[in-house]
Amino acid sequence: MEIEEKINAAAAYLLEHTTQRPTIGLVLGSGLGDFADTLTDAVRIPFSQIPNFPVPTAPGHAGALVFGKKQGKDVVVLQGRIHFYEGLPQREITLPVRVLAAIGVKQLILTNAAGGVNMAYHPGDLMLIADHINYSFSNPLIGPNLEGFGPRFPDASDIYTAQLRTAIKSAAAEAGIPLQEGVYMMFSGPSYETPAEIRMARVLGADAVGMSTVPEALVAAHCGLQVVGISCITNMAAGVLPRKLVHEEVMETAARVHDTFQQLLELVLAVI
Ligand code: HPA
Repeated sequence: MEIEEKINAAAAYLLEHTTQRPTIGLVLGSGLGDFADTLTDAVRIPFSQIPNFPVPTAPGHAGALVFGKKQGKDVVVLQGRIHFYEGLPQREITLPVRVLAAIGVKQLILTNAAGGVNMAYHPGDLMLIADHINYSFSNPLIGPNLEGFGPRFPDASDIYTAQLRTAIKSAAAEAGIPLQEGVYMMFSGPSYETPAEIRMARVLGADAVGMSTVPEALVAAHCGLQVVGISCITNMAAGVLPRKLVHEEVMETAARVHDTFQQLLELVLAVI
C-alpha cells in the first residue's frame, strides 16, 4: 500500500471514531505519558486499533491516541512514540504525525527525555528546543516526496517556531518555571552515547542529546505545522559524571519533575 493510502485510511478511521477536531497535537516522551490522563472528555484509541499505525515497543510508551480537552483547547495526544532504533525507517515511524496533519492539526508539541550536554544544565531541567542537529544518519523525507503535504526541499530554518518560543519563555518566566533553551542533537540509539561522542556533540553545538523528536519535527515542518519541542533533561550525558547511564535514572528524573513538566505543558497550551 502506498504511504498516502495508509495515512488516509488512518485519518478516516480517526474521523469516524471521534467528533473532536483538535488543531493541537502533543507527543509524550519517556515517563511523560500520563499527561494524557488529565484530559477531559477523553476518547482513547489504542495505536493497535488504528489502521497502519506503527506500534511502539519501548518501555514507558503506552501506545494510544487520546483526544480531549485541556486549558479550554481541543488536543490530541500521542501517548507513546515509535523510535528509529526500533528498526522501522524514519518515513514509517513518523506516519502518525502525517495522520495528525491530515485530520487538521496545525501545531505540534513534541516532548522527550534527553541527556544534558551543556555543563550548566542539571538533571531535572526543562529545555525548550531552539533548533536541532540531525545526527541519526537518516531523514524521514527520504523517498518519493508526498506532494499533498509539502515541497521536496522544505525550509528548516524555523522548525521550532521562534514566535511560539518567545511566548512560552515569557509565560514560563511569569509563572516562575525555570526553562533552558538549547539545541537538541539526535543520535539513533538504542545504546547511549560514548563520552567521546558527547564531547563531539558539545563541540558541534548541542546542549542536549536524545533518540527521538527530530524525525517528527522534520515531518511536521514538511506538513507546514508549527512545532514546539520540550526536553526533560533526565540525566547528564555520558562521561559528564563518573557513573554509568541507566534507563532507570531517566524514568526516575522524569517522575521527579512530573508536576513541573505538566505545569509547563499547561502553560504552553494556554499561550499557543
Ligand atoms: N542520551 C540519549 N537519549 C537519552 C538520554 C541520553 O543521555 N537521556 C534520555 N534520553
